[in-house]
Amino acid sequence: AAVVEHTFVVSQVKMTHLCKETLVTVVNGQLPGPAIEVTEGDSVAVLLVNKSPYNITIHWHGVKQWLNCWADGVPMVTQRPILPNHNFTYRFNVVGQEGTLWWHAHVPFLRATLHGALIIRPRHGAISYPFPKPDTEVPIIRGDWWQLDLPQVDRSMKNGSLDFYASGSTINGKLGDLFNCSGVPEVGYVLDVVPGKTYLLRVINAGLFSEFYLKIAGHNFTVVAADANYVSPYTTDVIAIAPGETVDALVVANATPGRYYMVALPNQAPRPDTQTPEFTTRGMVQYRVNHSSITNGAAALRSRRGAKEDENDEGPSDDVALAPQMPDKHDTVTSFYFHSNLTSLHHLTVPQQVDENLFLVLGLGSICRNGQQSCKRGGNINESIVVATMNSVSYQHPTKMPLLEAQYYHTGVLLDAMQELPDGPSRAFNFTDKAFIPYGPKEIPLEPSSKATVVRRFRQGAVVDMVFQSTALLQGDSNPMHLHGHNMFLLAQGLGNYNAAKDVARYNLVNPPVKNTVLVPNLGWAAVRFVANNPGVWFMHCHYEFHLSMGMAAVFIVDDSTTADTSLPPPPADFPTCCANDHNLLQ
Ligand code: C2O
Repeated sequence: AAVVEHTFVVSQVKMTHLCKETLVTVVNGQLPGPAIEVTEGDSVAVLLVNKSPYNITIHWHGVKQWLNCWADGVPMVTQRPILPNHNFTYRFNVVGQEGTLWWHAHVPFLRATLHGALIIRPRHGAISYPFPKPDTEVPIIRGDWWQLDLPQVDRSMKNGSLDFYASGSTINGKLGDLFNCSGVPEVGYVLDVVPGKTYLLRVINAGLFSEFYLKIAGHNFTVVAADANYVSPYTTDVIAIAPGETVDALVVANATPGRYYMVALPNQAPRPDTQTPEFTTRGMVQYRVNHSSITNGAAALRSRRGAKEDENDEGPSDDVALAPQMPDKHDTVTSFYFHSNLTSLHHLTVPQQVDENLFLVLGLGSICRNGQQSCKRGGNINESIVVATMNSVSYQHPTKMPLLEAQYYHTGVLLDAMQELPDGPSRAFNFTDKAFIPYGPKEIPLEPSSKATVVRRFRQGAVVDMVFQSTALLQGDSNPMHLHGHNMFLLAQGLGNYNAAKDVARYNLVNPPVKNTVLVPNLGWAAVRFVANNPGVWFMHCHYEFHLSMGMAAVFIVDDSTTADTSLPPPPADFPTCCANDHNLLQ
């Protein structure tokens, strides 16, 4: 196994889209950042050089980090931040995982521009893929284009402002021709293909919010992996992907040579109370053949399919690209079916003896400003703030010392700020609770909530079941729930309220998909099982940045073992040591 080395220089560069020059924080001047390509079993060493004005950490999303929690990259959970003009080398091994993962900054909102692919190939190269060997592999990273000061957006949200939007949507950093600057279409991503060849698309949703539907006109996908775990080949014309998820899919260039739009459309349940901007973006799949065959092929294709021509394209009619028929932007059911159709490629040994059961209600709540116990909740934005919750508790980071450090050195300094994540909601959930806050033009009911450093402790090896239940409080949002340091068996998912009496019988204990990010459907639930076997402290949170910023998170502490080969070693010698413990490290 090799050591794959990278240097990531984080800095601010100017990029211009939509007629506006914007200062963006990126790695090595690129958006998306560099891809890390490894063979399963390799070690990775990334020297992070922070030339930005922000505190930075990088998280290796989905990497199991076995006995290596120090490298997980969550500020105030696993490490002190890397300050401006400081460096740190992240070192980790990639073992027992194959497919696509990604890396991103884990400081508020900056993952919008600090991210890239992490590609893990099997040990014997493409011949050992459990599917037909692709001719070419391409990352397809769906991202957002923001023209706001992102760390400022986080501060505003924590102070109760809710409506912030990206200015555009990207595929591999390009906005595409549905966005334009003074009437001139933005450049979109183009994938050149050769007729008959097979392409492995490594699809990542790196956006801060919204699930997306991805389609390529005239082509099907065969999904072969999700979250770097192989799935039974699943052929579909649409991929549904939430922030944090990754999907590997084969596409065969078997259509009549021509040009085909690749469209990414955000899907979201209709929100009666807000006007969310439309962020569909499109790139192009373009057959590389001599011109006359493109022309003839495309014309033949149009007449054969009666295809709808793209209205915006004023070009010659023999050069018109075919656009896919997209699902409705409020269609959440297609996403539910896509996710329900994934099964693990192999039969798995799912542990049957469950030690702990958590039922986690995902919602929005309100807390009083200034920590008052009573306030006019929600009625007056000056008195209360909206927070996102699990079982009515909203997470906040400790400020003095990262949790991992406190856990490893057995210091008691954090205990005051901590609260145990409850097993289940403290009372029956009741949407008629009258705590209202203005949310857009309407008011929605919010649960009275509290804010704390929410933790849950597990003994090493505990088998944990979690049911995530989304609620009407979330106004139509799904919730991609991500667990660090462990994969989860996704046992079942459903719409409506979870009902143990009948839903446990539906659990797939044979070939459930294995995920690091589980999409909890809008007004539905997802049931997962995982083995808490990796000692350390692991963040568990919604991968919508808004929900995370507002507190939909908790930290799982997995106790260390006394056996040397399953216990956490000390931190690396060059671990960031920033700041005395009486300093507020979040500032
Ligand atoms: Cu991809 Cu905690 O995040």
